[in-house]
Amino acid sequence: MDIKNLEKIANNLVSPGKGILAADESNGTMSKRLESVGIEPTEENRRKYRVNLFSSKNYEKAISGVILYDETIRQKMDDGVDIPTALKERGVYPGIKVDTGTKELEGSFGEKITEGLDGLSKRCKEYFEMGARFTKWRAVISIDEDNPSERCIKANAESLAKYARICQEEGLVPIIEPEVLMDGTHSAEKCMEVTSKVLDITFAECEKNGVYLPGALLKPNMIISGKNNNNQIDRNRVAEMTIQCLTENVPKEIPGIVFLSGGQSDQDATAHLDIMNKMNKEYPWELSYSYGRALQASALKEWAVGTPESSQNAFIKRAEMNHRARYGKWELELE
Ligand code: G3H
Repeated sequence: MDIKNLEKIANNLVSPGKGILAADESNGTMSKRLESVGIEPTEENRRKYRVNLFSSKNYEKAISGVILYDETIRQKMDDGVDIPTALKERGVYPGIKVDTGTKELEGSFGEKITEGLDGLSKRCKEYFEMGARFTKWRAVISIDEDNPSERCIKANAESLAKYARICQEEGLVPIIEPEVLMDGTHSAEKCMEVTSKVLDITFAECEKNGVYLPGALLKPNMIISGKNNNNQIDRNRVAEMTIQCLTENVPKEIPGIVFLSGGQSDQDATAHLDIMNKMNKEYPWELSYSYGRALQASALKEWAVGTPESSQNAFIKRAEMNHRARYGKWELELE
């Protein structure tokens, strides 16, 4: 394992002012997103929409890396250059989602286990050759009356740790993403309790599997109430509870925490990150973003009703707002 290089890439991905664009929606998810704005979900339309994003001006000051999906890493820009090469030429690391999705966890009440360990090492080699330097694996934990079960948390944590170790052996920085979903009526306290447990078990598994933490990134949810809970906590409380949860459960060796947006509004995702970075504490890790929807939702809408340029402008605007949030320098008036 080339630990020096892993460390360098992980640190570059969370360098000051920068975060990650998650553009790794599976074909199914991306197709649904295109359909939701009235666009035919063809391979060429998925390519055109993403190539337009990747051609935006000056986004590299806010975006250090882009997570791609298997289809996209094999596609080309309009001028015929491979997408990963084009990103690299702009100083942006190409990354790749390497899990193959979720399936029902046997014997559970609707819980999911993420798959993709079979042949992972071979796929990593191919992606590395194509230019990828980091990877993502998303585990999904849901909260309801019966769930999550200890078994589901443990099974997903084991897979996350095995995935991370395999990627590091292949020279790729793993993003470890155990997402506690915001769907449901649960309280923020319940989200905190479950997220704490998930992080704790995930890092215990990482230790068991010899994952090199300075060469990895964590992509967690923030601590928020379930989206159908009538008692939503305010933005300051989200930031405080999230920091408390991370401080108690994330080893200081991890260089960066890159949040997912998970269905939060664009402004909430930016404001929450901004408050955490304004709190002016000496965190052991960089606090950054790896947003999908919170960086793309407005760009996708513009892609359907506006022009390629207005779609790029919408993306650049979100990138700029989150770039500021990295320094705790976002203000509502800038919106
Ligand atoms: O795995 C989830 C995505 O990479 C992040 O997407 O910010 O829309 O939750 P999101």
